[in-house]
Amino acid sequence: MPETPPEVLVLDDDPIAGVQLASLRDGSTSPEHFRHHARRLGSMLALRAVQDLPGAPSTVASPLGPAPAFGPGRTVVVVPVLRAGLGLLGGVHDVIPTALVGMIGLERDEETLKARRYYFKVPPLDGAWVLVLEPMLATGGSASDAVAALDAEGAEQVTVLSVVATQTGIDRIRSENPGTRIVTAAIDPELDDNSYIVPGLGDFGDRLFGTPH
Ligand code: URA
Repeated sequence: MPETPPEVLVLDDDPIAGVQLASLRDGSTSPEHFRHHARRLGSMLALRAVQDLPGAPSTVASPLGPAPAFGPGRTVVVVPVLRAGLGLLGGVHDVIPTALVGMIGLERDEETLKARRYYFKVPPLDGAWVLVLEPMLATGGSASDAVAALDAEGAEQVTVLSVVATQTGIDRIRSENPGTRIVTAAIDPELDDNSYIVPGLGDFGDRLFGTPH
């Protein structure tokens, strides 16, 4: 039986994830390469998030007869927070190809810095394991809003996958939504006046899609 991971798992001692994170942080990485590294890191975060996913035995017909098989015992639903979360989606599907997909659109009001939900479409979540893709966990406001909405739909387990988080963001999600797990590649020390993570990696969505900031 795989070990239950800690509720907050930081991959900062994982040199393989570290290589991907360093390339994402590097300001000279092009959008093309940024997408590549985001996808790879998405796979690594997802594998750690589901390391204790309950399994279900079944049987498969090999050419020489029935063979035992083993697969996910829960529906896994992956929910990118638009638009930055899309950068991790391909990597999650690389390792969990059967994961269903929901989408949440949250916009940051540049004056109040609060999240406004403009889109929400998810498959049935009753009993599902949900992976929320929110690469930059800054104040935690948008992720916490997303987790609350998904909890309300009956998810059994919600895990937020992030690339860079702050302790403030982590604390906010977990105090507003007890039981939520977080898997992140790093925790950075501070936020600037615009709620960007420092040193962070800049605006994840802009770097992913090549839009000017
Ligand atoms: N969103 C980003 O893309 N980057 C940050 O540093 C914070 C929020």
